[in-house]
Amino acid sequence: MPESSWTEVVGVIAHDLKTPITSVKGYLELIEQVGELNERQQQFSERALNSLKHMEQLVGLLLELSWIDADRPLQCDDCDVAALLTRVVSVLEDMAARREVTCHLEIEPHLGVIPAEGRRLEQAILNLVNNAIKYNRQGGEVWVTAKKSESHVHLTIRDTGVGIAPEDQPYIFDRFYRVRSHSHEHIEGTGLGLSIVKAVIEKHGGTINLESALGEGTTFFVTLPRARGASCE
Ligand SMILES: Nc1ncnc2c1ncn2[C@@H]1O[C@H](COP(=O)(O)OP(=O)(O)OP(=O)(O)O)[C@@H](O)[C@H]1O
Ligand SMILES: [Mg+2]
Repeated sequence: MPESSWTEVVGVIAHDLKTPITSVKGYLELIEQVGELNERQQQFSERALNSLKHMEQLVGLLLELSWIDADRPLQCDDCDVAALLTRVVSVLEDMAARREVTCHLEIEPHLGVIPAEGRRLEQAILNLVNNAIKYNRQGGEVWVTAKKSESHVHLTIRDTGVGIAPEDQPYIFDRFYRVRSHSHEHIEGTGLGLSIVKAVIEKHGGTINLESALGEGTTFFVTLPRARGASCE
């Protein structure tokens, strides 16, 4: 099968999976409302719901991959970067609290808007901040900063986590690449997140780089153009 039709098949399957997933999720949530569950029933229903949420995330990743490979233009709008970052940090607040990680947001005043497909860009930044929390230590910190130059908006996502060894850094944006070391061992993931982040940022005409020191932490540097580029429809 040629690669383009393979990507289309993956896209269609992933898209069609969304309907049954939403339906099962709805029924599981309804079960909890119908009447009091005993402890085991409660436990089973929670497990089923968690697995389903995981499946939902995987389907989301597949849809992003098939969108990237299809190389379609972006549906750009004016995207308020400060509002986007504030939403990302607030969505991840609970996850950070569970891991006792503190998130700081430092946004230059009057940062303004950039041309972007807001939903995809937000998901990409969410992935970076999610990693910064997930690969952090208990009691660790995350700083998200944003400022602008004449031509670009510059974002940094810095953490005090486990860090990435120099020999892993060249592969970190490859599809399915995950660091195999003791410090990353028990942390779940598919290894797809950063490959999608990089593709989405580059599609916007931006760049992403990192600096990292083992045991000290990692900083991702993202630049995004403030002017409308060719990849916007
Ligand atoms: N902030 C970080 N600190 C330390 N290691 C990181 C960080 N971000 C990413 N990594 C390493 O890079 C690998 C690739 O990251 P990526 O986000 O692509 O995948 P993942 O987090 O494993 O899975 P997914 O994001 O798809 O759930 C991770 O498995 C992890 O080893
Ligand atoms: Mg990730």
